[in-house]
Amino acid sequence: MSMRQTSSRAKARDCILVGECVEELRKLPSESVDLVFADPPYNLQLSKQLLRPNDTRVDGVDDSWDQFASFADYDTFSKNWLAECRRILKPNGALWVIGSYHNIFRLGTTLQDLGFWILNDVMWRKTNPMPNFRGRRFTNAHETLIWASKSQAARYTFNYESLKAMNDDLQMRSDWLLPICSGPERLKDDDGRKAHPTQKPEALLNRVLLASTNVGDTVLDPFFGTGTTGAAAKRLGRRWIGIEQDPDYAVAAKARISAVKRLPSSSLETLRSKRAEPRVPFGTLVELGILKPGAAIFDGRKRFRAEVKADGTVALPGMQGSIHRVGAEVQGKSACNGWTFWHFERRGKLRPIDDLRQKAKHQLGLIPEAPLVAAE
Ligand SMILES: C[S@@+](CC[C@H](N)C(=O)[O-])C[C@H]1O[C@@H](n2cnc3c(N)ncnc32)[C@H](O)[C@@H]1O
Repeated sequence: MSMRQTSSRAKARDCILVGECVEELRKLPSESVDLVFADPPYNLQLSKQLLRPNDTRVDGVDDSWDQFASFADYDTFSKNWLAECRRILKPNGALWVIGSYHNIFRLGTTLQDLGFWILNDVMWRKTNPMPNFRGRRFTNAHETLIWASKSQAARYTFNYESLKAMNDDLQMRSDWLLPICSGPERLKDDDGRKAHPTQKPEALLNRVLLASTNVGDTVLDPFFGTGTTGAAAKRLGRRWIGIEQDPDYAVAAKARISAVKRLPSSSLETLRSKRAEPRVPFGTLVELGILKPGAAIFDGRKRFRAEVKADGTVALPGMQGSIHRVGAEVQGKSACNGWTFWHFERRGKLRPIDDLRQKAKHQLGLIPEAPLVAAE
């Protein structure tokens, strides 16, 4: 891992680029990263010091990096960095941006204006939010993440099955209950104070990365702070690029990430949905000789017997067509999944022809695993 200050960025990976984000983004090659995660300035517009009822000072975000002269200035800045991120994203890439009510609506508008396609807004509900000390408003107990693909046509990554399994086999919802970053995870400076005012919890990044990237993908974070994105990415076997203008934060991030261990590859295997697997049509099974022309296939109760033809169709007397069409027709239905309806016979037992697809995928080099069913 390195911290770079040169202008050659083509191969930048697993490093922190120290500098102003729009300038640094301009040096990165187009269509080179899979995901952007951005935690930009919130533009909190804190005009006065915020005090608790006992007159102690609330440790809010009053840093100069969070201050903009006007909403128009903030919008211009947002447009500049978001446009650069869009250029750098691969065509099937996606972006997450996190914010609060101060900025998230403005960011949403800019995203849509630039051609991003919003997929979800996710609410990060905090288990331990800061109270509203003056009692004039509701406790501000959540932040919003917008998840958007580069364009409407992008085939973005979503590890649906993994996230569902993570949620005890219920679809993962768009409201995530997670604690704010505290305890030993919170980086401290030499005086024991928070090293960064807005360090995000690693659990949040963990979920974002598991949901929307694969092992080996590259994640870019243009507002790296203390490197939460880099720490989670390294642990999960993803590559990362961070941009941060404050050298002290960059140093803290570098030390933090160096201490992170990548999980072993075997722990990083994700659950794949059948939909995500490469498609192999029935005709390919015939072309590959896995089912030969003239072979017989049956429904599960052997009421129907069809013959496989050289062109990948199947036929019964007076009927010929795809496995799906013929399967539907013999049952008098409008549709049928021929892969599960039709069976082949092996050692006196019927097995769905779907089992043979594994063998075809293996022969085509689409999956590395040995086939579950050996060919006859
Ligand atoms: C909200 S914080 C990100 C915190 C980070 N997610 C973490 O967990 O530590 C935003 C960060 O962006 C940096 N920043 C703000 N404006 C920037 C700019 N124009 N270029 C580069 N970095 C910037 C700030 O110094 C700050 O560290």
